[in-house]
Amino acid sequence: MSRSTLGAQEIKAIYDRLATQYDRRERLLEWLLLRRHRRKLLSRARGEVLEVAIGTGLNLPFYPPECSISGTDLSPVMLQLAQRRAERLRRVVRLQEMDTQQLAFADESFDTVVSTLALCTVIDPLRALGEMARVTRPQGQLLLFEHGRCRYGTIARWQDRLTPHQVLRFGCHLNRNVLALVQAADLQIIWRESHLGGMLRLIQAIPFR
Ligand SMILES: C[S@@+](CC[C@H](N)C(=O)[O-])C[C@H]1O[C@@H](n2cnc3c(N)ncnc32)[C@H](O)[C@@H]1O
Repeated sequence: MSRSTLGAQEIKAIYDRLATQYDRRERLLEWLLLRRHRRKLLSRARGEVLEVAIGTGLNLPFYPPECSISGTDLSPVMLQLAQRRAERLRRVVRLQEMDTQQLAFADESFDTVVSTLALCTVIDPLRALGEMARVTRPQGQLLLFEHGRCRYGTIARWQDRLTPHQVLRFGCHLNRNVLALVQAADLQIIWRESHLGGMLRLIQAIPFR
């Protein structure tokens, strides 16, 4: 295994360890930047929703009330915090420990499949997108809010330099090309937004069938 790659158990251990500090560490960024993108993306959610790599459930306040929500994550400690958030919000959310690369759901189980700030961390993002597409119903959709490589060279080179450190600390790749991944996964993009030179992307896509 190269130093720029971690295994699933290592990623799970990182997030189990970080979980109780996660919301506090992210708070400023959430309020200044991330929240409004979460809100915008998730206003498009409908029907039975699966959120993969749900973390501490930071998206939960933004789902339309009529959605029924299931969430998965590698880290049981992150899931415990998501459960507490769901209870505070009085939302019923079915949470399960599960690897996005190997979802234990039947084909075509959900109307909406969501991933936010998570494709950076999963070991094989193409496989994860393939699994997300598999469990999406024929008239369903994938909603993604992901960070990735900047279109401006100087920043992108910094992202390349910093990525090995971020991978070791958080399992997080700063320099993935999210659009290319979505296209390679055979998903049809029907709406998208790009922010901060492509470092943040909102994507609504449907599986080609
Ligand atoms: C940066 S956090 C993002 C959490 C949440 N999606 C959000 O928007 O705040 C990354 C999350 O991905 C989870 N994760 C990483 N690899 C995963 C995998 N292969 N399957 C499921 N969850 C995974 C981690 O446990 C962590 O909770």
